[in-house]
Amino acid sequence: MKFPLTRPRRLRSNDLIRSLVRETRLTLDDLVYPMFVVDGSNTVEEVPSMPGVYRYSPDKIVDAIKEVRDSGIKAIILFGIPAKKDSVGSDTWSDEGIIQRTLRRVKREVPDIYVITDVCFCEYTDHGHCGVLKDGTVDNDMTLENLKKQVVSHAENGADMVAPSGMMDGMVKAIREALDSAGFKDVPIMAYSAKFASAYYGPFREAAESAPAFGDRRSYQMDPANYREAIKEVLLDVEEGADIVMVKPALAYLDVIRGVKEATLLPVAAYNVSGEYSIIKAGGKLGWIDEKKVMMETLLSIKRAGADIILTYFAKEVAQLINRGEI
Ligand code: PBG
Ligand code: ZN
Repeated sequence: MKFPLTRPRRLRSNDLIRSLVRETRLTLDDLVYPMFVVDGSNTVEEVPSMPGVYRYSPDKIVDAIKEVRDSGIKAIILFGIPAKKDSVGSDTWSDEGIIQRTLRRVKREVPDIYVITDVCFCEYTDHGHCGVLKDGTVDNDMTLENLKKQVVSHAENGADMVAPSGMMDGMVKAIREALDSAGFKDVPIMAYSAKFASAYYGPFREAAESAPAFGDRRSYQMDPANYREAIKEVLLDVEEGADIVMVKPALAYLDVIRGVKEATLLPVAAYNVSGEYSIIKAGGKLGWIDEKKVMMETLLSIKRAGADIILTYFAKEVAQLINRGEI
């Protein structure tokens, strides 16, 4: 039926009717807050390219996590920056590793928040690549062996969920088997399934000191041009036993989020990455955009595209807005 019988504006005439017909809503249940833990003590330092995001030492992160929990956010994902890096990233499976020490503390002092650990090597290797190097490139199968040690160690120290982000082939299967045979059959895997080789990771690499010392990550992360390959990667991870699949970054890949949602029955996560955060912060600082509105519109678009879970550095600010009843 056409105009004048159909007038879509009827359902837009005031707040009450607009809220009755609203299709998508962002809630605190959707959000995971990424946090950085750095070796040392008494340290809280802001990441220069990510205003409002901090690197905490293990003693300081506990209070920060309590605040996150009190704001109503249910989950965090932890990234570690160790004191010492080496060629294989052995801190990642050490009982005295930065993540392991932090997990024990956080689980003891803030038991009521869900702790996901990012599982990779780039923050822990002296060359900054996401695995073991052989002949100048990351050796897939040698890296799988170290991934198994890393996830079992995370689980032993209290990780609620592990999130492998290195884009190694077969990583989900290797990790599932390692967790199961170590007695952690109930620890879920959130796989960074479709992770693209993106320039939007720039600020994160400053925060995590994880920029590769040579070359780039294009031999393991995906080509931003490839949609069909992203679906293939997701289907492989589903077969290998992933519990949640992720698309990363989010904003430049909304079509991929939608496609993944249609291709699988698993929950879909999307990572609103550091560069997406920083450009909104920068625009706001310059006074060129309304930062809060752009933030909400962006996160809503990620959810509307199909994300069930959004990992975002904005989580705390969103929680503030929700708790103050502003959205
Ligand atoms: C490392 C990792 C990266 C991010 C999370 N884990 C990026 C990279 O490949 O350097 C990016 C997060 C962000 O940009 O916010 N495997
Ligand atoms: Zn990595």
